[in-house]
Amino acid sequence: MDRSIQKLLSKKLTKTPIWFMRQAGRYMKEYLEVRSNLESFLDLCYNPDKASEVTMQPIDKFDFDMSIIFSDILVIPHALGQKVEFIKNKGPVLNVSENNNHIDLLQFNEEALYPVYKAIKLTRAKLPKEKSLIGFSGAPWTLSTYMIEGGTTKDFAKVKSFMYADEQKFDYLIDILVDTTSKHLINQIEAGCDSVKIFDSWASVLNEKQFYKYSILPTKKIVQNIRSKYPDTPIIGFPKGAGISYPQYAKETGIDILAFDQNISPKWIKDNTKIALQGNLDPVLLASNVDKAIAYSKDLINLMQDRAFIFNLGHGILPITPVDNVEKIVNFVKEYQVK
Ligand code: CP3
Repeated sequence: MDRSIQKLLSKKLTKTPIWFMRQAGRYMKEYLEVRSNLESFLDLCYNPDKASEVTMQPIDKFDFDMSIIFSDILVIPHALGQKVEFIKNKGPVLNVSENNNHIDLLQFNEEALYPVYKAIKLTRAKLPKEKSLIGFSGAPWTLSTYMIEGGTTKDFAKVKSFMYADEQKFDYLIDILVDTTSKHLINQIEAGCDSVKIFDSWASVLNEKQFYKYSILPTKKIVQNIRSKYPDTPIIGFPKGAGISYPQYAKETGIDILAFDQNISPKWIKDNTKIALQGNLDPVLLASNVDKAIAYSKDLINLMQDRAFIFNLGHGILPITPVDNVEKIVNFVKEYQVK
């Protein structure tokens, strides 16, 4: 069956489809209501009924063309046995050891992820048939930063020191993450996702050689693993902040759709790639000035008229975003026709 992403790639869509990263989230009162009744964020991720309910909220409210299953990239370190907590106003906290010995203890417990697959099944049953359901995973490099730093970091000193000090052990960690994320993405397709997205949110802090070794090559392996089972499932890659390396990533990983952030020129991205694209409205612009956001979006859609293109933000929607702005931009994109 043709879902929206498949239709886009086979050039059977006449209007620009739209969805937003983090479209289910704190800018919506409906989300905050569900969230307030649960102790922790992970309780929401592992509750199939609630995860499915919040996945549907932005679809029901704004009629986005695509939905993404509500979960988090940190379910992978959690399923590997690492303790993961989300602390209010601080973000994720993972338990780490002084000498990175916790890496030797990792063991994949696939069953821990079953609630995610259950949430996908429940969501697919509710979702209008033409809308895509996107599954996702963090990329190995991005996951390794959380697993070694123990949370969000400014300088990436711990993870990079580890990479420089013990390349063999770091490579071992990346290999484990290639295997587990491949499995997780394949399981999500089996559960009912018709496309998947790989988030390499910290690609920007790697130099050219490191980017090749730790972002491009692992992603290429994951793509090959998925393709060996599901050759036709579209794969979106998002090496956030990859700058001049975006085109090489698009070409060498084998992904179908390249997502790009708000800090790179859409024209440069278009001129230097051949594949389908997704991006790149600045989430801050959407939150702060909807008229300027619409003007930017108009130029973007005009630019992309002869390329398969999904309208999205350059990164996740901010909790401060007025729902009115979301409504206006969605309506604009859905109605706008290139002259
Ligand atoms: O896009 C969607 O709507 C699907 C859900 C989704 C979430 N996280 C929900 C979430 C997705 C795709 C993610 C991916 C994710 N998680 C990434 C990659 C994308 C990116 O943003 O770069 C990363 C790096 C994470 C890790 C993570 N999760 C962090 C750093 C945080 C805390 C920061 C914050 O925004 O608070 C989270 C928490 C999180 N994940 C929230 C949501 C809705 C907010 C937590 C809450 O509701 O209390």
